[in-house]
Amino acid sequence: MPDGLTAARLAPHVVTATMNYLTPPADGSRPYRYVETPPPGRAVTTIEIDPREMRIEDVTGREGQYTLDANGFAVIDAPTAVPDLLDEAAVSTTYRAEVEALLRDRLGATRVVMFDHTIRGPERAGAPLREPVKRVHNDYTWESAPQRVRDLMGAEAEALLARRFAIVNLWRPIGAPALDSPLALCDAASLDADRDLVVNELIYPDRVGQTFSVRWHPAHRWYYRRGLRPDQAILIKGYDSETDGRARLSVHAAFTDPGTPAGTPPRQSIEVRALVFW
Ligand code: OGA
Ligand code: FE
Repeated sequence: MPDGLTAARLAPHVVTATMNYLTPPADGSRPYRYVETPPPGRAVTTIEIDPREMRIEDVTGREGQYTLDANGFAVIDAPTAVPDLLDEAAVSTTYRAEVEALLRDRLGATRVVMFDHTIRGPERAGAPLREPVKRVHNDYTWESAPQRVRDLMGAEAEALLARRFAIVNLWRPIGAPALDSPLALCDAASLDADRDLVVNELIYPDRVGQTFSVRWHPAHRWYYRRGLRPDQAILIKGYDSETDGRARLSVHAAFTDPGTPAGTPPRQSIEVRALVFW
């Protein structure tokens, strides 16, 4: 057995980095942020960051040990046939079909509907700048996930909600390994939803969106895959309606890896979200 592999097994590569948790408002109110101008007299946001130094373990070489149902995330081999993921038309046709088939097969789902994609990275002509998100969060709450099904699935929604459904995000680097601002995932088994999660409101002019922010706890175990390649992907469970003890969500955030060489170009990535029905 190669020495490097033996060594990796004995002592996984670990970094220590700042993870931006939440300090909930002292008055017990729900933290919020106005996306546009707040009404007179209201603060733009009551979100207060609680930065904490956390140990983050590199799963390189043991990617297969972590699963959506046990840990809330998975790092998978997932080459894509799409040559250019910045090509919007290719993403909404070929890539979409690929992702839906991959999730259907891997999760044994009956139906998968990809509904959203976001590209993050350096500024591009004609596209809004979307930066890495360095705040610990889960994309949905117990309420906002089923609400997404109602918003997207019309008359079918209630029938679909009567059975198991999940929202899964497939995240991958574009063009080069994601050395800059990698994505870290908190093992769902180390998280206590009632203790740690705080509903966070994003107030748009016409609607209120909800995500979970997270209170720090020393039990949280963080993982990443250093230098995740464009032919790999991270699956992130944003919500699962199943309450049999499996992971129901996956708290995550991008972070500044102290081991990333100076001058590494900004990470470019694509994340797509899909409704998964059984
Ligand atoms: C996500 C997410 C942040 C990032 O994909 O849900 O939070 O920095 N991404 O890529
Ligand atoms: Fe997210």
